[in-house]
Amino acid sequence: MGHVITFLNMKGGVGKTTLCKEIGYYLASRNDRVLIIDVDPQANLTQSIFKKYSYRHKYEHENDENRNFKVCTSSINMVFNHSYIEETDKEKVILNLSEHLSIIPGDLNTVFLERTLGGSDKEQALKNFIEDFKLNEDFDYILLDCPPTYSFYTTAALLASDLYISPIYPDSYSILGIDLLSKAIEKLKSVHRERFKYRPISQIGVIFSNIPRSPSVGVKKFIEDILSSDIVREQQIYFFNNQFVRNPQIPKDVGYFIVDGDSNNSKMNIEVIVEEFQERIKMICQQSTVNQT
Ligand SMILES: Nc1ncnc2c1ncn2[C@@H]1O[C@H](COP(=O)(O)OP(=O)(O)O)[C@@H](O)[C@H]1O
Ligand SMILES: [Mg+2]
Repeated sequence: MGHVITFLNMKGGVGKTTLCKEIGYYLASRNDRVLIIDVDPQANLTQSIFKKYSYRHKYEHENDENRNFKVCTSSINMVFNHSYIEETDKEKVILNLSEHLSIIPGDLNTVFLERTLGGSDKEQALKNFIEDFKLNEDFDYILLDCPPTYSFYTTAALLASDLYISPIYPDSYSILGIDLLSKAIEKLKSVHRERFKYRPISQIGVIFSNIPRSPSVGVKKFIEDILSSDIVREQQIYFFNNQFVRNPQIPKDVGYFIVDGDSNNSKMNIEVIVEEFQERIKMICQQSTVNQT
């Protein structure tokens, strides 16, 4: 059975989208079946994938660059907009990019949907879609990229997920951010207690991202302070041993993917991150089986 995993942090610019994309792409390159769901109305991940696979949304205007691109009609809005779902099928919603990688693309039009969204049926839409179409039988990993807010989108993503992972960039607000995140999860569990009773949600861990290969004294100090903070100790939060190392190519080109790039350091880095990611998931799953019996 596949794992449904949200990339979560209420803060922006911490590497959620980049890690989601690189981990997903890496897993697919190793023949795992991966579905990426772009839940962020900013649709940054979708833009990366579209550039890589030469797609454009049907509402995107043609220009010199995308004239020969394939036109994509799939969109996350089909999931959030119920009336669609009843008459549509998963083949219309999911765009298959390769044998192992698929995406439910984000849609900049979602911004306009936001006001009309809300209500518990909409919040459950993503979870129901994954369950109704048994997507966890089709995919080994379903990775959800979230916007940097505690919003309808994050709730919808978390209700659909079994696991979440939180990328952070170390600064003086990180500890506060980690605490807010735990509180948001606790609140969600309390509001939707029936949902989490039959399917719990666990944190894979926190991962430091965009860390220079030779971090400054300041960055090192922030990391030390975070790791030794009361909150992290009391809540027994797992921190990845491997950090996501900075690669200057990443912000320069949205079509850049580590696996296909020329940085061996980054390739090795994403490899060990994915190894740790998989080990953690395995451990959490074993624990929850023990708890159930
Ligand atoms: N490992 C990295 N090396 C270099 N730049 C990175 C790295 N990770 C993220 N970035 C850059 O940092 C910025 C924020 O990352 P992003 O993944 O979009 O964060 P979020 O999704 O949390 O808002 C982007 O410009 C991205 O290209
Ligand atoms: Mg993002």
